[in-house]
Amino acid sequence: MAKQAQGEHTPVGIIGGSGLTRLHALKVERQEVISTPYGEPSAPLTFGRFDGNPVVFLPRHGAGHTLPPHGVNYRANLWALRHVGVERAIGMAAVGGITSVMAPGVLCVPDQIIDYTWGREHTLYEGDLENVTHIDFTEPYCAELREALLESASQVGVPIYNGGTYAATQGPRLETAAEIKRLERDGCDVVGMTGMPEAALAAELGLCYACLALNVNWAAGKGDGPITMAEIEHNLEQGMGKARKILAAVAAV
Ligand code: HPA
Repeated sequence: MAKQAQGEHTPVGIIGGSGLTRLHALKVERQEVISTPYGEPSAPLTFGRFDGNPVVFLPRHGAGHTLPPHGVNYRANLWALRHVGVERAIGMAAVGGITSVMAPGVLCVPDQIIDYTWGREHTLYEGDLENVTHIDFTEPYCAELREALLESASQVGVPIYNGGTYAATQGPRLETAAEIKRLERDGCDVVGMTGMPEAALAAELGLCYACLALNVNWAAGKGDGPITMAEIEHNLEQGMGKARKILAAVAAV
């Protein structure tokens, strides 16, 4: 992994999702408001340390969780992280489980993604139409960082599922049962609302990016009855402790 001149790791970027607007155990050193060519990021960047290892934290939905998935300025968020020297970024995600292994409480590190979102600012390549750049996106996640997440989970004794296809839906409503059946036919394992364009923008910026996803409910039609916020919040509460342990271990790699 890249080291800084003084022999320290470059900080790992952590984009917190629902249930992770703050990182407990993060020793905060400073916050920085970053202006970007794409507008304001979701919040000031928080620079701090996890067990002595440097991280930069950004709550995707804003410090007070006020931004809906379709209202997040993904371009500004990713640009800001790159701007401060982040080379590896982890997108945390609360997701619904589609396939039988993705039960509520299960953590996974997806290896593929399908984009069902629309109308979001999804590229940094605009305006300069003479130099349109088509990035390769065959493998949407950084293999090295996926491996670091899986190894760290094993180190701290947290079971985790290796792989899966993430369906990125528009939200903010949850899906219909028929939509979930369709996503399953498409080969999707989990469904969330923020995976895109985040992963693609990271690739455009040359960031090594991976997703750490926590299943917080059975996707529509896969469980008994309607999906409740109480169920989602309960599973978030239970699962985020495990996710934090993994993040702390990754920061050290
Ligand atoms: N669908 C979409 N996004 C989600 C879900 C879901 O069931 N659960 C958590 N985020």
